[in-house]
Amino acid sequence: MGIVGAGPAGLLLGHLLHLNGIDSVVVENHSREHVIDRVRAGVLEQGTVDLLRAMGVGAGLQRTGLRHEGLYVSFQGLRHRIDLADLTAGKAITVYGQNEVVRDLIESRTATARPLYFEADHVAVSALDSSTPVLRFQHSGTDHEVHCDFVAGCDGFRGICRPSIPDGVLTVYERVYPFGWIGILADAAPTSDELIYTYHDRGFALFSMRSPKVTRLYVQVPPEEPIENWSDEGIWNEILARMTTRDGWQPNVGHIIQKAVVPLRSFVAAPMRYGRLFLAGDAAHIVPPTGAKGLNLAASDVLVLARALKAFYERGRTEWLAEYSDVCLRRVWKAQRFSWWMTSTLHRFPDATPFDYQRQIADLDYLTSSRAAMTSLAEQYVGLPMEVSYESAGLHV
Ligand code: FAD
Ligand code: DHB
Repeated sequence: MGIVGAGPAGLLLGHLLHLNGIDSVVVENHSREHVIDRVRAGVLEQGTVDLLRAMGVGAGLQRTGLRHEGLYVSFQGLRHRIDLADLTAGKAITVYGQNEVVRDLIESRTATARPLYFEADHVAVSALDSSTPVLRFQHSGTDHEVHCDFVAGCDGFRGICRPSIPDGVLTVYERVYPFGWIGILADAAPTSDELIYTYHDRGFALFSMRSPKVTRLYVQVPPEEPIENWSDEGIWNEILARMTTRDGWQPNVGHIIQKAVVPLRSFVAAPMRYGRLFLAGDAAHIVPPTGAKGLNLAASDVLVLARALKAFYERGRTEWLAEYSDVCLRRVWKAQRFSWWMTSTLHRFPDATPFDYQRQIADLDYLTSSRAAMTSLAEQYVGLPMEVSYESAGLHV
């Protein structure tokens, strides 16, 4: 199996295949340090946590992951708690940085001594509609050519696999939002044990964390906003203006360790397969980060793919390979809908009318006062049940 990309999708798939005795080559164009240091997602669904544990890569998660049984939605200066565990018969989310997930998976891969190439150049895939697709790349000046049974395109939104599919095969569904987020990591002890999603007249803000000493915060800004326009003081002023609640709660201010602007986009390319190329994770779909689904969808895709590959290698069955895209897309579209709804409900749209504003407040009022509405949010936020069992992908729970 050729795997392009050593992000969460590629590394998880590589490890799932390893556990089933299936050989793979993972090829990544960035350095190991770059892949680990990239600051991205932080929320793992219950099912993603269970998956990592069942795969035997949950030790770090167990040690430093922060299990959250609730979250807050804040508007008009008041915080409202949604009890995720109570509403979902005990499920929760775990805050554990994507970079930690990736670090753990790289360590596990390295321990298996299976091939993982960083800083590969000229990565290309071809003969995708033949029975032996080819993965080519250059590493440390040497040309490599791998003749594979299958190729997994786990190379993210800007990778090379999706563009290698001939024109006319894929249908693309896309929505670009008229805003982005500034995300910061701050040396500041979190002042809330749980995440806070805030709707404010000045725009959306999100309080999260990475450890008992590090706070992660996001604020809505205009699209493609240059980060240079934002001094550290300017960012803190905006965060405090949006997040401070009437009871005086606010985040601690501290040294900003890292800051960056993230665009918001919904994107699906269907089907997630062409010949013997299977797309997984961000290579096939992007969700706006408001629902915290991106990393979790990468995990659910590769679980479905691992099940199909196991059935192929062990029993020569191809039905699950044929169903791969349909099975994944059902979950992807539900996550798209949820992420779009969270985004639409919590952000200030530049063209919003006073009617839109009142409707949004009513939406939030309903959400935080109806058990039915809170249950709907909770079951989606902790993650809908996986489409396939862990056992079907060779895991023992
Ligand atoms: P990626 O993590 O993108 O991994 C793809 C890998 O392929 C990368 O390592 C890349 O270097 C490599 N690659 C690319 N091109 C090639 C090539 N030609 N050859 C070889 N390798 C290649 N989600 C959330 O839920 N919450 C968040 O706060 C959040 N923040 C984000 C911030 C940013 C800036 C971005 C870009 C995404 C964010 N996401 C967030 C989304 C989440 O991080 C992704 O959904 C997740 O990383 C998807 O994993 P993946 O493995 O599919 O793709
Ligand atoms: C985090 C990111 C998100 O996009 C989100 O919805 C919740 C938390 C985070 O980075 O911690």
